[in-house]
Amino acid sequence: MKLEEEFKPLKKYKAINWNEVSDMIDKATWEKLTEQFWLDTRIPVSNDLDDWRELDDDHRWTVGHVFGGLTLLDTVQSEAGLTALKQDVKTQHETAVLNNIQFMESVHAKSYSTIFSTLNTPDEIDEIFNWSDSEEYLQNKATKIANMYLDPEEDPLKKKVANVFLETFLFYSGFYTPLYYLGHNKLNNVAEIIKLILRDESVHGTYIGYKFQVGMHDRTEKQQQDMKDLDVQLPL
Ligand SMILES: [Fe+2]
Ligand SMILES: [Fe+2]
Repeated sequence: MKLEEEFKPLKKYKAINWNEVSDMIDKATWEKLTEQFWLDTRIPVSNDLDDWRELDDDHRWTVGHVFGGLTLLDTVQSEAGLTALKQDVKTQHETAVLNNIQFMESVHAKSYSTIFSTLNTPDEIDEIFNWSDSEEYLQNKATKIANMYLDPEEDPLKKKVANVFLETFLFYSGFYTPLYYLGHNKLNNVAEIIKLILRDESVHGTYIGYKFQVGMHDRTEKQQQDMKDLDVQLPL
């Protein structure tokens, strides 16, 4: 069916009322996320320049390209990911929480550019973005998830599964590198940004995972079993 055939003009529009919250997890998550709000511009990444200059070319290459990969994944989240999740909300408060998450994904994606602009030359930055926009395995990872988000026929609960996988282990494989340097007392301010992102991702993953469980309760036993048997083959 075409979009214009589905469209029926609204007679009323409902104002969001935070004094009547049907799911207290929405309120608790909103409070947690707004409490831990941060911006990349407040972290003094330039204090890591001495550490950076001590790294050899291989280490610098690795750091730059790991962050290129993370930029791509946070871009997927901030664009296709949260837009998809907002198509399947149960409450207006859930939309508000997802708006918050969507904005923070844009902050995450931008924060890597803050790191690049401090540590890398313009030519290096161009090379990193050309790499992340074309590298086969990275693109495989990003497009596999993004295509699930963008497919209007895809089960909204499976989109939540893809989201939680991305929020958790697919991101964490990229976080290893900055945390490795932190373990060696290097690039501490870069690591501070990563720690803030990690703190957000753990709330995002928990919240979306919870909303998945809520959605599962509405499914038949057979559908629930099919979901448990689901063989999601996501690229690592
Ligand atoms: Fe993120
Ligand atoms: Fe996230």
